[in-house]
Amino acid sequence: MLEQAEKIIKDAQERIAAAGNLQALEAIRVEFLGRQGKITGLLRGLGKLPAEERPAAGEAANRARTAIEAALSSRKEQLQAVGEKAQAEDIFDVTIPGRRPMIGHQHPLTQVREEICNIFIGLGFEVVEGPEVETLYYGFEALNYPPDHPAIDETDTYYVTDNVLLRSQTSSVQVREMEKRAPAPSRLVVPGRVYRRENVTMTHSDTFYQLEGLLVDKGINLGHLKGILESFAIQYYGPQTRVRIRPDFFPFVEPGGDFSIDCSFCKGQGCKFCKDSGWVELGGCGMVHPNVLRAGGYDPEEVTGFAFGVGIDRLTQRRFSIDHIRLLYENDMRFLAQF
Ligand code: DAH
Repeated sequence: MLEQAEKIIKDAQERIAAAGNLQALEAIRVEFLGRQGKITGLLRGLGKLPAEERPAAGEAANRARTAIEAALSSRKEQLQAVGEKAQAEDIFDVTIPGRRPMIGHQHPLTQVREEICNIFIGLGFEVVEGPEVETLYYGFEALNYPPDHPAIDETDTYYVTDNVLLRSQTSSVQVREMEKRAPAPSRLVVPGRVYRRENVTMTHSDTFYQLEGLLVDKGINLGHLKGILESFAIQYYGPQTRVRIRPDFFPFVEPGGDFSIDCSFCKGQGCKFCKDSGWVELGGCGMVHPNVLRAGGYDPEEVTGFAFGVGIDRLTQRRFSIDHIRLLYENDMRFLAQF
């Protein structure tokens, strides 16, 4: 009986050491320690032994059980550790391509704004910005708007208080900046966001971006204005581009105009893009009104100046063939990733 027990222990230990996985180990446990198992069989056989042999035989059987249990549990730990490692290595497959983080890039509006600003920097202009929340004074009054002008009305402009509004044009920065510089010359462009109480259409939004230009110095005339607009147009649209200025009215310029470039699609012949006119309008311009120069601290007898304004959204829509302005404000990555 004692020899039998020793043999079972040895047998079990060898089998346990050879078990390659947890299922095999469980089968071995059942074989030795299960209800029909070899150790259980030993214990059951005790009753048949002569009384004086029973204590030693019982002890041997119990020792065998303890030894087998210990061997099982240490092998189980080993197998589990190996399994976890293998599993971990399985998940971390070094051959799987990494997940590429999304890399941001400039919004199309920003791209166009920077491109335009760079052209004007090259022409000797300084880039400045002004507040989007503006006073009635800089927004309209200093720009020679009569008090009853419809653009001042609440139906057109968003008001914060009676005297404070969301600027509806970057022209609002003109007098602010002239005040800082007069009587020295002003030569600046002002990109920025503007707000208007408007319904959204394909080409209009209640917020959009403009770029204002202003040049005040001795002896400035319309020829300088046209020259600067042409230099800009040629650099932005190409060397053949022509510029046209037609009379228009804005309270802060006299004479005032709108300026267009010849349509790049039909070369001025007329097409659906330029609505058969051969020209594409870019913005407004003119010679700074004496009242505005005065508000800015200049003497209109001493200096003259020109100003112009373009819509950055419109340039962006045209540059990238974006049919609806709304797309520029929705922050939809599927759209933005294209530019
Ligand atoms: N501020 C005008 C607008 O928003 C555009 C404009 C017209 C700007 C004539 C100018 C200008 O500087 O001279 O419609």
